Order: sequence, then structure tokens, then C-alpha cells
Amino acid sequence: MDLTDNVVIVTGSSSGIGEAVARRLAAAGARIVVNSASSVEAGERLAGELGDACYVQGDISDPATAQALVAAAQDRWGRLDGLVNNAAVTAEVPLADIDGVTADHWNRVLGVNVVGTFLVSQAALPLLRAAEDGWILNVTSIAGIRQTGSSLPYAVSKAAVDHLTTILAKHAGGGVRVNAVAPGLVATPWTKTWDQQKAGVAATAPLKRVATPDDIADACMGLIGTRYATGQTLLVDGGLGLVV
Ligand SMILES: NC(=O)c1ccc[n+]([C@@H]2O[C@H](COP(=O)([O-])OP(=O)(O)OC[C@H]3O[C@@H](n4cnc5c(N)ncnc54)[C@H](OP(=O)(O)O)[C@@H]3O)[C@@H](O)[C@H]2O)c1
Repeated sequence: MDLTDNVVIVTGSSSGIGEAVARRLAAAGARIVVNSASSVEAGERLAGELGDACYVQGDISDPATAQALVAAAQDRWGRLDGLVNNAAVTAEVPLADIDGVTADHWNRVLGVNVVGTFLVSQAALPLLRAAEDGWILNVTSIAGIRQTGSSLPYAVSKAAVDHLTTILAKHAGGGVRVNAVAPGLVATPWTKTWDQQKAGVAATAPLKRVATPDDIADACMGLIGTRYATGQTLLVDGGLGLVV
């Protein structure tokens, strides 16, 4: 895929899946707006390594961050071709612990994962509609599709983003494609202490291993390059969803 001169925002790209996707997009020629909420050093370092790239610190649940991300693309390059909505959070409550979920958990998780994803998309759409082939790619989760995942608010938030994907695909206008990639279990900083879950996936998933960030980047690049698909969620889980 040749993305020379294209400009792409990747939210939550200082580590893990977002970093892998940002690296792949940059390798295809794109200029990248790197973002993270608090890991400034890692974000600035990645932007420095990607060549024609910049870093914007900000929590995507803050409307000012959505404006700042789009302004960074507009001010520096005068265009925006793609948006990867990757940043997300979870709550420290096991999925089955219904009594442990509080209103604060819901507000934080939905505020970042759903409202933040929407706000950045909303801010980006005018420039994406003006692009020749504008697109949005949302990183969701198997947790939004199957009854698994790191907490109840997280699972519900990811199901919401899958539905947001279909509605935005229908109404974005300007030929903007909106799709999602839903990973299974991926070895990233997020899951660094999840040894038990990783062993479970390696034992039960048909492909017998957890994903690497590059596995998910493969799927993202494939969907970004699939120019006649919109409103779709691609589950990339090594077959885990077939057995849980
Ligand atoms: N790892 C998995 O097994 C797995 C499975 C399914 C889906 N996913 C999804 O994949 C995506 C990336 O996860 P990951 O595993 O790669 O995690 P990760 O390595 O922890 O990376 C998360 C990134 O998001 C940023 N971030 C977090 N909250 C943010 C906010 N409010 N505003 C802006 N940036 C924020 C983090 O920056 P800071 O450190 O500065 O906060 C970091 O750059 C998420 O959407 C996650 O739900 C992951």
C-alpha cells in the first residue's frame, strides 16, 4: 500500500497496537500524528523515529484533545486522510464481578472508549470528507462480541464502538470508510501481567497463541487497503471466539 503524502492520526500510539499500526502506516509513506494521554516521552520518541510525524499529548475524552489532534494535522500538512481510534481504558473489575462496578467505572470507560472515540471522529470528519479516500479505523475487541474481556464497562464500550462504526459508516458522507478491527488477546504493555489468560488462550484458541501487535497491524493495514468495505468489524483473535 502506498500512503505517500497521506496524513493519519493514531490515538494511543505510544505503545502496543497503536505504536505498531503507526509504524506500519509510516513505513507505507504516511505522516503520523502520534498521541497518548500521559506517556509523553514514549510518544515523542516514536514521533521522532517516524520521520515526518508529530506528537500531541491529550486524553481523548477531553474535547480539546480532538480539536488539537485535527489541528496538528491541518496546521502542519493541510490535510487528513485517516484516523485510527486506538486509545482505550478499562476498569480494574473482573468481568463477572457485577457488584464491583461503580458509576465512576462506567463514566471513565465509556467517556474514553465511546465518547472520546466519537469526539475525535467528529472533529476529523470534515477533513476526511475532503480527502480523496478518507477513512476511520476503530480498534475494538473480542470483548465487544463475545462474553469475555477485562471488565463489564469495557466489554460494553467495545460493543458500542462496533455499533458506532456501522452508524458512522452509514452517515459519515464524502465517501469516508469506517471499519473496525477487534483483536483477541494481544501481548502489549496492557496485558503484561496476564500470564494466566495468555496460557489459556495458547491452550484453547485454534491458532494456539496470543497475538502480537504486528498481527493486529496486519489486519488494520488490510482493512485500510480494502477500498470497497465499510461498516465492518474484523475479528482477529486466532479463532478464540469460536471456543469461548
Ligand atoms: N492488548 C489486548 O489484548 C487487546 C485486546 C483487544 C483490544 N485491545 C485494544 O487495543 C487498543 C490498544 O491497546 P494496547 O493493548 O495496545 O494497550 P497499551 O499498550 O496499553 O496502549 C494504550 C495506548 O493508549 C493510550 N491511552 C490510554 N488512554 C488514553 C486516553 N484517554 N487518551 C489518549 N491516549 C490514551 C496509552 O497512552 P498512555 O500510556 O499515555 O495512557 C497508550 O499509548 C485498545 O483500544 C484496547 O482496548 C487490546
